[in-house]
Amino acid sequence: MATNLILKNASICSMAVGELGYAPSTPQDILVVGGKIAQIVPSESNAFATQESMSDHQVVDCSGKLVTPGLIDSHTHLIYAGNRANEFEMRLKGAAYTDIAAQGGGILSTVRATRAATEEELIELALPRLDGLLSSGVTTVEVKSGYGLTLEDELKMLRAAKALENYRRVRITTTLLAAHTVPPEFKDNADEYVDLICNTIIPRVAAEKLADSVDVFCESIGFTLEQTERVFQAAIKYSLSIKGHTEQLSNMGGSALAANYGATSVDHIEYLDLAGVKALSENNTVASLLPGAFYFLKETQQPPIELLREHKVPMAIATDLNPGTSPFADLTLMMNMSCTLFGLTPEESLRGVTCHAAQAIGKAGSRGRIVEGYDGDFTIWNIEHPADLSYQVGVPRLSKRIVAGELCHDSF
Ligand code: NIG
Ligand code: FE
Repeated sequence: MATNLILKNASICSMAVGELGYAPSTPQDILVVGGKIAQIVPSESNAFATQESMSDHQVVDCSGKLVTPGLIDSHTHLIYAGNRANEFEMRLKGAAYTDIAAQGGGILSTVRATRAATEEELIELALPRLDGLLSSGVTTVEVKSGYGLTLEDELKMLRAAKALENYRRVRITTTLLAAHTVPPEFKDNADEYVDLICNTIIPRVAAEKLADSVDVFCESIGFTLEQTERVFQAAIKYSLSIKGHTEQLSNMGGSALAANYGATSVDHIEYLDLAGVKALSENNTVASLLPGAFYFLKETQQPPIELLREHKVPMAIATDLNPGTSPFADLTLMMNMSCTLFGLTPEESLRGVTCHAAQAIGKAGSRGRIVEGYDGDFTIWNIEHPADLSYQVGVPRLSKRIVAGELCHDSF
């Protein structure tokens, strides 16, 4: 297999720092060596002529196509069993998401199905969803646990998530979300469950290197601010980075708490207020917008986009792919929704699935931009202008995905 790659005549959206990198470049040639971007030069220089003739260099002609960084879906719950179409029907008849959860449905119904599944079954169930993401141009996917809620079931979910790299050409990052909801065994003693997370689950996950981050659903149907803080402290003790499901259904102050503990991102944030926005800005925490969940729950509270812009908080956009609130396996659909529902520009939306998504998963220095030294992950599109990605839905535009300099021969 060729380990080195040359992309020729590439019109690039590099997403380089600042205002630069959105407008497509003049034709460039990109040399990828050992999975990393080694050099980018104007095509007219013909600088890689020698390498092109060598047999260990694969050459891809990108004439007439647009090349972006490989898209990053920075927030998913890709691993789960079961199906919640029945709850969708209940909600359409008037039941609230929080009521369904309070009656033992919602997240807990997926917990029952996920506990009953084997690791192999979870992988098999996740692959079609993963293929949906990949066919929308994704090369990196963050995957959370959170439907196991016992030590063994959380480990099973994280192992299944990591194993996806053996089945598809994709990079997976994993997040422990044991603090997703209080499991039935601890119904009247959430604090004891938090003890289990802090004293047993986090240490074991860290020891087995099964997660990069720890996440908490800080909400009335999730965990209190105090419980959230305990989980963050345990995560930091074991050198895991932190993230939050915060300010989704109410304003509890979870985003500011997470930011003050150095969170890479806080996600949902429809109810985020000015103090929260300032905390994100001061701590360089990414605001992750999840328009699929906003749309599917028919929410009306808009995330504070204008304040985020004013305070220069980077905004990521992700699918939140999950069975209850965002059953959507298409990242470009989320780009479209971020523009139509939240008023983002197509440029902000592309940054949201490239450089800002990379920052949300702690990879700002290596992914999400086409610059020398970064990972050789690219998505090649049959379009002329990047706004097309936010504009059309359901029209196939993907030409090729490249992960670590390897051309993916996808067959979705
Ligand atoms: O990101 N907010 C909490 N967790 C998921 C929903 C999970 C579910 O309903 O199964 C979310 O929206
Ligand atoms: Fe989520």
